[in-house]
Amino acid sequence: MDKRIISTEYIDEDIKIEGNLRPRYLDEYIGQEKLKSNLKVYIQAAKDREDSLDHILLYGPPGLGKTTLAGIIANEMGVNIKVTSGPAIEKPGDMAAILNNLSEGDLLFVDEIHRLNRQVEEVLYPAMEDFAIDVMIGKGQTSRSIRLELPRFTLVGATTRAGLLTAPLRDRFGVVSKLEFYTNEELKVIIIRSAGLLGVDIDEEGALELARRSRGTPRLANRLLKRVRDFAQVKYDGRITKEVADYALDLLDVDKNGLDKNDRNILATIINKYSGGPVGLEAVAASMGEDVGTLEDVYEPYLVQNGYINRTPRGRIATDLAYLALNLNE
Ligand code: ADE
Repeated sequence: MDKRIISTEYIDEDIKIEGNLRPRYLDEYIGQEKLKSNLKVYIQAAKDREDSLDHILLYGPPGLGKTTLAGIIANEMGVNIKVTSGPAIEKPGDMAAILNNLSEGDLLFVDEIHRLNRQVEEVLYPAMEDFAIDVMIGKGQTSRSIRLELPRFTLVGATTRAGLLTAPLRDRFGVVSKLEFYTNEELKVIIIRSAGLLGVDIDEEGALELARRSRGTPRLANRLLKRVRDFAQVKYDGRITKEVADYALDLLDVDKNGLDKNDRNILATIINKYSGGPVGLEAVAASMGEDVGTLEDVYEPYLVQNGYINRTPRGRIATDLAYLALNLNE
């Protein structure tokens, strides 16, 4: 099989890794209510017209369900999904081959779409707009371009930051949607659903404690659920209660606010090395030996949204809440 397309098997493999926890249809999907109800309309409308769905860009921090949603959209439309990612496609010819291999109605999911290089991206423009690609044949003076028709397909792109997409690419998506962090109540429902699928005994308070400490992120909630289950099994009677969740999560270095070691390290760096800021994220990253992109995409959104860090034109500032979270007096 073509290595650049990881195909539906990639999703199936992921389902196995996540222990079959991914929802497969919109009705099983918890949270992102607005996006979900809009998607229902677009899907219904496309099906009624017997047309393909317009191209969709999903953006937001990792672990909120972009890949899951792409799989759900394909299931709801009753079409095949092909999965690839920005860094996997190196040459324009690779992209042309992927597009040329699509069948009518197929959904092409491109993860990390902001990492496509410019030449590869340019193949997508006519493909998205006119369902065609321009292929150069011949060399030198005799070379010419021929237009190859493509089947009508739907591109679903995912990125952690929409701001990194070029305007021509972003403008070719009919739907651009941001995934939001989940509320504790939503995460609690997801955790109880996952526990049911895994055959884990958990009570409401146990689930809520796990939810509180999962940074608004289902992927993390499911991961922590599995680790806490291990502690429940070995150190307790197997049932996850608040006491068990507290015990296990403390050992896992996830604090009462759901901040992990990296989060606390970022706050401590701003506070201790830069007197609380303002400081540029590059300087924070350099002090920590971290990649600035990872800080910005993976850690910062949650810290900003929950009021631990303020972003100002002069840099990042640690808030009172950050001092409190680290048990520091200002
Ligand atoms: N598992 C991971 N994310 C989920 C979601 N949003 N709804 C239900 N189950 C999930």
